Amino acid sequence: MTARLAILASGRGSNLQAILDAIAAGTLDASVVGVFSDKPEAPALQRVPEALRWARTPKACGGRDAFDATLAEAIAAVRPDWIVCVGYMRILGAAFVQRFAGRLLNIHPSLLPRHKGLHTHQRALEAGDAEHGASVHFVTAELDGGPVIAQARVPVQPGDDAETLAARVLAVEHPLLLQVLRLAAAGRLAERDGRVYIDAQPVFTPRPLESAPA
Ligand code: GRF
Repeated sequence: MTARLAILASGRGSNLQAILDAIAAGTLDASVVGVFSDKPEAPALQRVPEALRWARTPKACGGRDAFDATLAEAIAAVRPDWIVCVGYMRILGAAFVQRFAGRLLNIHPSLLPRHKGLHTHQRALEAGDAEHGASVHFVTAELDGGPVIAQARVPVQPGDDAETLAARVLAVEHPLLLQVLRLAAAGRLAERDGRVYIDAQPVFTPRPLESAPA
């Protein structure tokens, strides 16, 4: 059964594009059933046909809780198997997270638990990290704190600035996200009691990025 993906995005949408390209290439057995945004002008929305776009501002919905509730209803209406945050820049409230628990994924540009939150590339540089990267994790009520499924590492190179480092990380984000979505789409991925399971086996350390085709 082709997995139904609801995508949450606030920005550019290169991760969404990687998903769409993989579906088109036949390397991800999924379909994008909606793209949801808190930013009506987000370029990510333009990557899918109009019928799949949903955007509201929290202000227009009457505040944070009302926005989360409206968003949750819209997402539930497309009956997704998985809800995937790709550059979604709002914190999801506890009720939202609870409603979709175990089916809610996020990609974060750092080697979690290092550098939760914003400006991860700059913070990795300032910390003098030798390595940086990206993580895909289940979303819990704690910001960027849910159990990590897989990680991709890149070296920090002499002369890097936040931009060059971000570009190196982005290049591994796309295959990392697809690796996890293939597991999800195949029914091989689950979360229970804060632990990741792949093929019903508990995952104690995040899976590394495989060098398999993206
Ligand atoms: C990515 O770096 C993602 O990890 C982070 O926001 C960025 C989104 O990029 N959460 P894009 O919109 O998918 O191009």
